[in-house]
Amino acid sequence: MRIADFELERYFARWEFAVRHLLCASDVEGWRMAELLGLADDETAGLWRDLRLGYTESTGHPLLRRAIAGLYDTADPEDVLVVSGAEEGIFAVVNVLIGEGDHAIVTWPGYQSLYEIARAAGADVTLHELREADGWAIDLEAIRAAVTPRTRLIVINAPHNPTGMLPERATFDGLVEIAAAAGAHLLVDEVYRYLEFDEADRLPAGVDAGRHVISLGVMSKSFAMAGLRIGWIASRDRDLLHRVASFKDYTTICASAPSEILALIGLRARDTVLGRSRALVLDNLATLDDLFERWPGVLSWVRPRGGSIGFPRLRAGLDADAFAAELVEREGVLLLPGSRFGHPGNHVRIGFGRTDLPEAVAGLERQLARVAAG
Ligand SMILES: Cc1ncc(COP(=O)(O)O)c(C=O)c1O
Repeated sequence: MRIADFELERYFARWEFAVRHLLCASDVEGWRMAELLGLADDETAGLWRDLRLGYTESTGHPLLRRAIAGLYDTADPEDVLVVSGAEEGIFAVVNVLIGEGDHAIVTWPGYQSLYEIARAAGADVTLHELREADGWAIDLEAIRAAVTPRTRLIVINAPHNPTGMLPERATFDGLVEIAAAAGAHLLVDEVYRYLEFDEADRLPAGVDAGRHVISLGVMSKSFAMAGLRIGWIASRDRDLLHRVASFKDYTTICASAPSEILALIGLRARDTVLGRSRALVLDNLATLDDLFERWPGVLSWVRPRGGSIGFPRLRAGLDADAFAAELVEREGVLLLPGSRFGHPGNHVRIGFGRTDLPEAVAGLERQLARVAAG
């Protein structure tokens, strides 16, 4: 298999652990082990204490599958397959559903693997462009028009990386219907689910929307445990799930035993875990609202409706790549230029899930002040 470099991940490989403040991280500040273990109930505390470090069940620990199924209205534990990070889920699902000559429609800009893996599998990929002028909204009619007899897969990500866009309910329902009419699967990347700023805006989960709709979830973002590398596919298409499970035999076979138990602890305490993430994100969002108010015309954004990231635009004449390079050099603060998404606009991704956001924003403002003075 030949596949293009994952531009965003290469950027993080260079900078993530070399800077003082990551102002473009998409995850929420990770839990400390001791605090997470403090949430264990008697059963999970016992599972942790007596854990044997052998292989695990390739479909996932039965209790973990049950806890994940509990996130949904209609999923049984058998509708859940545990994977190692959402990234493995994308890799496996796309490879199973898509081959040479097939067609996929994927929103763009976006998380590169959502379309690059389909390309590498030999598919023809239509990138459905989200535009700032439309509030980054999905254009249902453009998606409908892009469908061909060879369309096997439509992919969306909601809340969306990098814009924080959350489709309206009618748009989501329309996508479910378009995919059904096309005989295609709809993959809904829900890794930022539960971080909708207004909980009333939360969409139904993909798995609950139809047998052809697939939910992709993970512990990394809203659950703030990226280091576990535990994700899942939830789908009521059992044949698909079996095929993905077979594919996984060639990637990781099974998930990490300690990570499975820690994920179980986190999911059983999900109200506490998600409450912490939501509070952090909403607090940081207020700090960013103030920042945007202080720099009108220099920084502007379509305010996200969910997630832990947004995609603001720098004023014309302030080149996003050059600005980010100078910011990291002068202040040790990392932004992610839109060019890493292949996006031609003058945007940067900003992340607001970390506790050091106030310090990072202070560094950003010092740089903005320097540019304004110079
Ligand atoms: C939209 C989206 N999907 C999937 C992933 C991959 O998640 P993980 O790192 O947990 O595998 C990310 C990570 O940034 C993401 O933003």
